[in-house]
Amino acid sequence: MKYLTIALAKGRLAELSVKILMDLGYNSGEVLEKTRKLIFTDEEHKLKFILVKASDVATYVEYGAADIGIVGRDTILEEGRNVYEMVDLKFGKCRMCVCGPKELKGRLGEHSPLRVASKYTNIAKDYFDSKDMSIELIKLNGSVELAPLTNLSDVIVDIVETGKTLYENGLDVLEEICPLSARIIVNRVSAKIERERISKIVSEMKEKVNEQ
Ligand code: PRP
Repeated sequence: MKYLTIALAKGRLAELSVKILMDLGYNSGEVLEKTRKLIFTDEEHKLKFILVKASDVATYVEYGAADIGIVGRDTILEEGRNVYEMVDLKFGKCRMCVCGPKELKGRLGEHSPLRVASKYTNIAKDYFDSKDMSIELIKLNGSVELAPLTNLSDVIVDIVETGKTLYENGLDVLEEICPLSARIIVNRVSAKIERERISKIVSEMKEKVNEQ
């Protein structure tokens, strides 16, 4: 039997995913050990787990280097990859928002072009295009909240989970773009040729999260 490969987004999502997989009897626990290893094998179930950067999960799945991926909806929307989105795992819940100083609430239209900094430039562009607003996009790779504080941008488009980062930096949610959570994605070819094994894992995971 061929190995099925599951790509996990490094960090909290991988931890939550591994706990569910372990509850289901898969031997994925080694993923949580703090080593530098990137590939883990469950010989009994012929599974391989690979740990990749969140923004790369959908790439591995699209090209078939992984059959299944577990990743946040934010990266699926941002990367626009050609994969099946199968299940909402309902954990890792957060929101994609436009954030900035609260004085800008309801007044974004007064800045044209509005300067927007984000890691998620495609999501930001699609959102402001849909509102017919002209923006200047500035791509950042992290600590995006700094941008309005240093006058690099007027606002940011970023993930808000607890709101603590915004609060501690004197910023606010100005507009909500969409809700986010962890999703299972599947390679289009694997979905056909490994249909039974993939459906089994996907439905087991779905059932488990619904119990919780
Ligand atoms: C994410 C996001 C926010 C923060 C939101 O950053 O970009 O900065 O979490 O969480 P909160 O609402 O609970 O405070 P992450 O920790 O992934 O780091 P980053 O700055 O590198 O994007």
